[in-house]
This record gives sequence, C-alpha cells and structure tokens, in this order.
Amino acid sequence: MTANIQTSRPNSLSARDAAYHFHGYTNALRNEQDGGFVVMRGDGPFIYTEEGKEYFDGLAGLWCASLGFGPQPRLVAAAKKQMETLPFYHTFTQKVASPVVELAEKLVSLAPVPMSKAYFCNSGSEANDTALKMIWYLNNALGRPEKKKVIARVKAYHGVTVAAASLTGLPALHNEFDLPIARILRTDCPHYYRFGEKGETEEAFATRCADNLEKLILAEGPDTIAALFAEPVQGAGGVIIPAKTYWEKITKVLKTYDVLLVADEVICGFGRTGNWWGTQTFGLQPDIITTAKQLSAGQLPIAAILINQRVFEALRDNSNKLGGFAHGLTYSGHPVSSAVALETIKIYEDERIIDHVRSIAPHFEREMNAFVDHPLVGDVRKVGLVGAIELVKDKSSHESFDPKLAVGPTLVKFAHEHGLIIRPVIDSLCFCPPLISTTAQVSEMFGRFSRALKDTHEWLKREGHA
Ligand SMILES: Cc1ncc(COP(=O)(O)O)c(C=O)c1O
Repeated sequence: MTANIQTSRPNSLSARDAAYHFHGYTNALRNEQDGGFVVMRGDGPFIYTEEGKEYFDGLAGLWCASLGFGPQPRLVAAAKKQMETLPFYHTFTQKVASPVVELAEKLVSLAPVPMSKAYFCNSGSEANDTALKMIWYLNNALGRPEKKKVIARVKAYHGVTVAAASLTGLPALHNEFDLPIARILRTDCPHYYRFGEKGETEEAFATRCADNLEKLILAEGPDTIAALFAEPVQGAGGVIIPAKTYWEKITKVLKTYDVLLVADEVICGFGRTGNWWGTQTFGLQPDIITTAKQLSAGQLPIAAILINQRVFEALRDNSNKLGGFAHGLTYSGHPVSSAVALETIKIYEDERIIDHVRSIAPHFEREMNAFVDHPLVGDVRKVGLVGAIELVKDKSSHESFDPKLAVGPTLVKFAHEHGLIIRPVIDSLCFCPPLISTTAQVSEMFGRFSRALKDTHEWLKREGHA
C-alpha cells in the first residue's frame, strides 16, 4: 500500500507527518487527513511553525517548558559537556554516573519535607508506576500483604502507563484500554465550585471530602489501604485548586489509618505554584514525591521519585533479603538528562525563578480576574502561574454547556487563529505559561484569549446558545 502523502503540500513536513506518524492524544484519522502542526523553533513563550506563524504557548508545551522554547546556552553546554565525557551509564548493580549522584543529593536537599533518597525514571507516568510498585513491595516487606489498595481522585491525572492510567481519574484513559487494573479506588475531587453543594461552605465541602475518604477507608478496611496518590493542584483534570482546609483534613485521615501519601508533583514541582513544591503551597505531608517536567525544564526526559527514610528502610531491607530491588530502567539516572536537570535547578536558583513567579503571579491573577464578569465565565481559579477559566451556560447555577457543543474546544480553535495555544478540559481553559514569562507576555497571552472568548461568545449567540 502506498503512503498517504497529501498532494497539495507534497514535500511539507506536515504532509509527511500525516503519512508516517501516529501521535498520542490525537484523532489519528484527522491527522492523517490534515497533517501535523509542525513546530520549527521557539523563543521565550513563543513557538514558530513551518510556515513561520508565531504562537504563544500558554501551556508551556505540556506544563513543562519552564524556561520557554528558546535555546538555553547553559543547558546546551551541560548536555554537550556530559556527552563529551560520559554520554551513557546506568544505575544497576551499584553503578552510577557522577551527575546522577549530584542530582540525587540536590533533590533530597530541596525536598519540601524530610526525604531520604531519590530514584530516577524518564517520565511522570513511569515515576508513578514505580512509586506504586515500591508501595506494594514495601507492604510485602512489612508483612502486610493485604495493604495494597491505592486511592486516587476523580479528575486526577497521573499518566498513561498501565498503573498510572489506572490511577488517573479520567474515563477517556480507561475506556477501551481495559483499565483500571484491580485495587484502585476512587475518592472525591476537591473542586468546590463544581462539587460543592448549595449552601455548603468551602470548609464544609473540604470536611465532606475528608469524611468520604475516611468512609471509603473504613468500608474497604484500613488494613487493605496502602496509599493515596494526589496532585497538590490537579492539572490535566482542569487546574483544580483544592478547597480551603482540604489538605489538613485529608492528612489527618491518612495519618489515622497509616495510609501513605504520594504527592504527584509532576506539574507543581519547581516553582509552578509560587514555591519550589506544591506540597509547600498547600501543606501536604507526603511520604513519597514524584516529579518530572520542570525538573529539566522539559528539555530532556527525566523524572524523580523522592522517598522518606521509613519507606527507604523497608525497601532497603527487603532488597537485602531478596538479593536486590528487581526494578530499574535502562535510562534510570541517565547522565545527560541528569546533568541537564542539575543545571536547570542551578538556573532556577541563579535567576531566582521562584521570586520571579511570585512577582508575576499577582499580574497573572489580575489578568484572569478581568474575565470574572464575562457572561460565559463561571469559575476563575489560579495559583502561582497556573490557572483555568471555566465557561458555563448559567453563571448562577453553574450549569455547564452540553458537551456536544464543544464550547471549550471551539474556543481553543479560535485561540489558535489568534496565535494562542491553550488546553481545553471540557469547558475549562487551562493556562500554564513558561515560568520565565514577563508581565507584558502574560498580558499578550490573555489579550489573545480575550479575542478568542469574544469569537466564542459571538458564535454561541449566532447558534442561539447565549
Ligand atoms: C500530575 C501529572 N502526573 C503525571 C503525569 C505523566 O507524566 P508523563 O507524561 O511524563 O508520563 C503528568 C503529565 O501531564 C501529570 O500532569
């Protein structure tokens, strides 16, 4: 069979993409018909296509390009130096490349709560799968073979590998993939605007979430519940900022029943919420932290798992008993990725990136708040440099639009025409600009969004829905 190369642009990269490339998170038929959106270069928060058109990437790629899309000479130099010295080594059988040692030490020193050791993977999904395996191994080691069920929340996003997708609380990641696997339980999403009941205060809603978690643990039997996986801010579920007092109440329940907390800091880690970690912004007390993305400014694949001393000791002693911890990836602790991650953290420190986020965040907040009174806008939520604007049919009842109308995705199409890339989660539009964005660039992003919102409103009026 011949390759399906479009005749209109026979030599374009876009047409070749259509012919040869199967994308993730993409309608494959549409890509085969239209071709990919080929990005050629970047500069700050902007990217440029094959045709030279400029777009503001309002999601920092996939919530990861903290330093933007332009070349970073320090990261180029770190990668080059490592590739010239030792381009590959692994971490099996007590071996390790030098930057991995330095990175582990750095991460343990930066941890928001006392952590003992760092373990490396290549993606957030792998980190969460690995954390889950560590927890099962640990409870076997501690002589609690029944304590294996793991709880995750509605609208959670923990990745796409078999366990991580099972932990994810979004049906699209389960349907027709024969997931979730066994022993995964689901608890509430802490989104007060969407799930708070009429007349219920935010604090009362948080209490209800914690009570429901406790009821679930008691119904299943505390001796069967190993851990809760949770993002400090739920990112891909629609930038859900936990209700006030949520984390202190959840923590109390977890401690009562000896349930470990895995803080999935894959988006929040490294400054996104205005602190090094979301754990600090929201007062979590994790036993395990998974992190990736901004760890290397998204520039090379690397993820880390931080474990506390109690977790480590159980893993250590069992590995001694069994003759080794029989888990590891060829690229666990890749020297080039580790050197780049280490240099990324040095850039964050030298350029005081957290201070920068804190100085820009009030402007980001003001720009977002300017949409509060818009007739289509229901919820405006933000922390640090991440947020979402949720569009609704009825502002007072919070009623959503019929999903068939695809209001959020339609706005995203209009935004595209105005040179803005943002992510729709149903009708919530997510913003997560590179951390290095300036106030002028944040205004530029929301200016483009404003034009797209206007187009969406006019389209809805024309269609008789607004
Ligand atoms: C909170 C969270 N955890 C895990 C993941 C999965 O990371 P990856 O895509 O690197 O596997 C993501 C990806 O967006 C994420 O947002």
